[in-house]
Amino acid sequence: MVMQHQQVANRVDIVKERLSFLVQYLRNPKEVGALLPSGSPLANIMTREIDTRNAPVLELGPGTGSFTRAILARGIKPQDLTMVETNSEFCSLLQRDFPGAHVHCMNAADISKQDLFGGRKVGAVVSGVPFLLLQPAEAKAILKAVFEVMHPDAALYQVTYGFTAPFPREVLRALDLTATHAGRTLRNAPPASCYRLKRRSASSARH
Ligand SMILES: C[S@@+](CC[C@H](N)C(=O)[O-])C[C@H]1O[C@@H](n2cnc3c(N)ncnc32)[C@H](O)[C@@H]1O
Repeated sequence: MVMQHQQVANRVDIVKERLSFLVQYLRNPKEVGALLPSGSPLANIMTREIDTRNAPVLELGPGTGSFTRAILARGIKPQDLTMVETNSEFCSLLQRDFPGAHVHCMNAADISKQDLFGGRKVGAVVSGVPFLLLQPAEAKAILKAVFEVMHPDAALYQVTYGFTAPFPREVLRALDLTATHAGRTLRNAPPASCYRLKRRSASSARH
């Protein structure tokens, strides 16, 4: 009986999360970029190369926290997780649901303008930002800022509903970055892939 109540409560939470995501999508389709939050099979793919050695971890565009839960399940402590999200409704939900983690309600393009990580370099970035909907200049500003705060050997894990990496080629060339496919699942609505973005060579980070 207690088990049944717990299952019903979990189901209600999932429906609430989907509804709040849908409402935000209808208000800001270009910003939110998806009708529904990602499911756990995709969250597993997005975080499977992350463990405690990658702390601190940065998450961009966490929405309602699908990838956040998976990052914490990989052993990253809440205090070693920083989330950057533009949507103020999502920011309030994230602050409520992930106590101890750092939530910044700001544009990912601005992350290198202040010290968000206590002087440490970020060991991995997980991104839900809808790069396919961004202008090349916006994509470039975000990637430039991300690679400034990241450890030279670290990777950014990017979700996409497309069949290629969602970054403009000229931006990857200009920043000397390379994208590789890191997994795909059909068990998501819509089916989605993860791309791993790294510096072409660690030495290019120092130039
Ligand atoms: C497709 S949703 C992904 C949400 C969540 N990661 C998931 O997979 O369910 C994109 C998220 O990125 C956020 N976002 C869009 N542009 C952003 C930006 N420039 N900086 C930070 N967050 C941004 C949106 O508000 C939204 O929460």
